[in-house]
Formats: sequence, C-alpha cells, structure tokens
Amino acid sequence: MTDATPLIHATDLTVRPSGAEVPVLAHVDFAIRPAEIVTVVGPNGSGKSTLVRALLGHVPLAAGRVERKPGLRIGYVPQRVHIEQALPMTVRRFLSLPVRVSDERAAAELARTGVPGLESRQISALSGGQFQRVLLARALLNDPQLLVLDEPTQGLDQPGMVGFYKLIEEVRSQTGAAVLMVSHDLLVVMRASDRVICLNGHICCEGTPQAVSAAPAYRAMFGADSQGMLALYEHHHDHDHDHVGTGAGHDHHHHHHH
Ligand SMILES: Nc1ncnc2c1ncn2[C@@H]1O[C@H](COP(=O)(O)OP(=O)(O)OP(=O)(O)O)[C@@H](O)[C@H]1O
Ligand SMILES: [Mg+2]
Repeated sequence: MTDATPLIHATDLTVRPSGAEVPVLAHVDFAIRPAEIVTVVGPNGSGKSTLVRALLGHVPLAAGRVERKPGLRIGYVPQRVHIEQALPMTVRRFLSLPVRVSDERAAAELARTGVPGLESRQISALSGGQFQRVLLARALLNDPQLLVLDEPTQGLDQPGMVGFYKLIEEVRSQTGAAVLMVSHDLLVVMRASDRVICLNGHICCEGTPQAVSAAPAYRAMFGADSQGMLALYEHHHDHDHDHVGTGAGHDHHHHHHH
C-alpha cells in the first residue's frame, strides 16, 4: 500500500498568513495514499486546520509545494460549518447544496452514515451527533477518493465518538477512500488510524499510533498522563500489540527551532 502513488504529496510546506509574524506551519512534508487513515493531532493553534487547508489549496503557501493527483475527488468537512439558523433548511435540501443529488443517493448516504430517514428534518433540529453524520453523508456524495475531516467529532460524547470512528473505518473499507482527520480525541483516534502525525507548527513525530504514543515528543506535548490513559485504554480493548515500537523516535530531516 505504501508503494501506491500518493493522493496528495506535500514537501517543505510553509504557511504564513498575512496577519502572522511567523509561519504557523513550517517545513512540513506530508503524503497520504489510497485507503490510508491518517490523523493529525496537536494542541489548539498548532496549525492542524492550516495544514488541511494548505493541502486542499485553500491557503497560499509561503514556501514548499503541494501536488494533488490530477482529478482527485475530495470530500471535505471543515472544522466550522456555518448554517444560518434563521433560514429553514431540511437535511434533504442541505444534501443538494451546492450540487444537486438524487433522492436515492441522498437516502443511501444517510443510511450509510447511520442516520437513515432524516431527509425532512430541519438542520437546526438535529442533535450534534446527527449533524456530524449528515455532514459526513454530504462529503460522501461525490464518491471521494479522499475524505478530509477537521475535528469531525466535536460535540459528541464518548460513545458518539467511538461510533463515529467506527463509521469512518467502515466507510474506508466500503469505498476505499483515504481519510485525513484532525482530532483532539487521541485515545479513540489511535485505534482508528493507520498513521498519526503529531503537529506543533512542524511535525514533531509521526508513525503508527502505538509508536507515536511512545515517542518522547508526543509525551512532552500531551503529558505522561496520556500514556497512562492509553495503557488503560489498550487494556480494555483487546487488540494486537505486535507492532509496538516500529517507527518510534522516527527521525526527521528538518531542524526544530525551539
Ligand atoms: N489568517 C490568519 N492570520 C493570522 N494568523 C492566523 C491565520 N490563520 C491562522 N492563524 C494562526 O495560525 C495558528 C494555527 O491555526 P490553526 O487554525 O491551523 O490551528 P489548529 O491546530 O487547527 O487549532 P484548533 O485546535 O484550535 O482548531 C493559530 O495561532 C492561528 O491564530
Ligand atoms: Mg483547527
């Protein structure tokens, strides 16, 4: 799988918004390949959303380059989706904005994302979890080869989060789409990701979830506590520990000025 041509490949990505004195993202190398689930974690303001938007070509680069596979179909759920609460809008109509889709297709994606039959509901009347699933359904409407989800589980409780990540894995196996996610939900995300990137203006560490959770840079950022919680989490969930250690301390070829 790692031999496949990347869907998106970025090298030396540097972003400095016009209002910012220093780059908010510097010297980031990134690639995502078909059917991979990659999660970006990092504290508030560490540049996660900026990275995603740069990869999508939504923000200008100060340096570096981003190559997207020609014709790449992307389903994007931004961190903040503004919907005018005053305007009545049904789920069905929302799914046909900006591109009209058939009733059959709308119904199929709502069913796939676990919210079948919500078509006639008002968007404003949905629960947080239902709304996130409707956003995912909409992102799936153009058969994306890459799903980009910026904090898709905001506002969900713990079971809601676990359910949502399960759904992401199902979508990946059903559609073969790669998934790039931003998350704060470290423990839950660990299990659903093939690869985790720990960001803080630059890539601090990356690798398998197990390797990253053991990496000093990760522990420095999220505290030793997170390690204890991870151990607890793994204890409760019986899964494979054979890969622990691979890629730990993964070496980067750029310099960190801190
Ligand atoms: N247009 C802009 N002008 C100036 N600074 C900006 C601009 N856009 C982003 N920034 C700064 O860049 C940094 C990274 O922002 P970004 O939204 O990428 O962080 P994030 O990791 O997604 O944070 P969060 O977890 O809160 O969503 C922040 O300090 C932010 O204030
Ligand atoms: Mg963000």
